[in-house]
Amino acid sequence: MGIIREAREQDVIKIKQLTDENISVNFYTLSFLRTIIDDPKQYLLVYENEEKEIVAYLYMFCASLQEALTILHIPVELLVSNGVLPETKIVVFKTTCTHKKYRSRGILTSLIDYAQKKVLQIDLHSILLTALQIPSEKIPAHTVLIQADFVPVGRVKHPWRNIEAYCPYCGKDHCICDAVVYRKELP
Ligand SMILES: CC(C)(COP(=O)(O)OP(=O)(O)OC[C@H]1O[C@@H](n2cnc3c(N)ncnc32)[C@H](O)[C@@H]1OP(=O)(O)O)[C@@H](O)C(=O)NCCC(=O)NCCS
Repeated sequence: MGIIREAREQDVIKIKQLTDENISVNFYTLSFLRTIIDDPKQYLLVYENEEKEIVAYLYMFCASLQEALTILHIPVELLVSNGVLPETKIVVFKTTCTHKKYRSRGILTSLIDYAQKKVLQIDLHSILLTALQIPSEKIPAHTVLIQADFVPVGRVKHPWRNIEAYCPYCGKDHCICDAVVYRKELP
């Protein structure tokens, strides 16, 4: 049984390695990861296994609705039609991954559970994220998100097309996968 905690400065090398191996090489630089750790509005939650090795993480941050929409490449109409008010403060679940060897053991499930408690502690209630929809139509995190009561509210066409980062799912340097937008309102 592992533990979840906030990342420390000395964890960034491992988090970068996990990102390089499971998301895309150089998707995050070490200096970017350090800025997350130093910023009180951003959270880098890591899952440490019994051997004290970090095998998964979830990165989330607080944002205005407009900032969240820009960063996630979501058109404003999509959320307005879902009843989200422009002044809503959002927590964006931005990136997550679990080391291949440790998948399907409930680690992302527990990271999401922990993250939601953190969101409530900072007195925010709206969570937004986009999940990659791979060309074969499978969304890697869909089951976990649905089990955690996240609601798919729309789809964005090719949100990562203008970002240079190799996508292991579609196999392109400029990812052509679509994204599904998920939302959750906490009580
Ligand atoms: C998506 C990802 C983060 C999931 O991480 P994970 O730690 O394996 O997630 P969980 O173990 O909580 O859930 C994964 C699956 O195991 C199942 N599961 C959960 N707890 C379980 C348990 N104790 N025993 C067996 N299976 C379990 C879940 O229902 C889910 O089922 P699915 O195969 O239908 O999706 C991981 O696959 C990954 O890193 N992928 C590459 C990067 C990526 O795609 N990131 C997300 C981009 S949106």
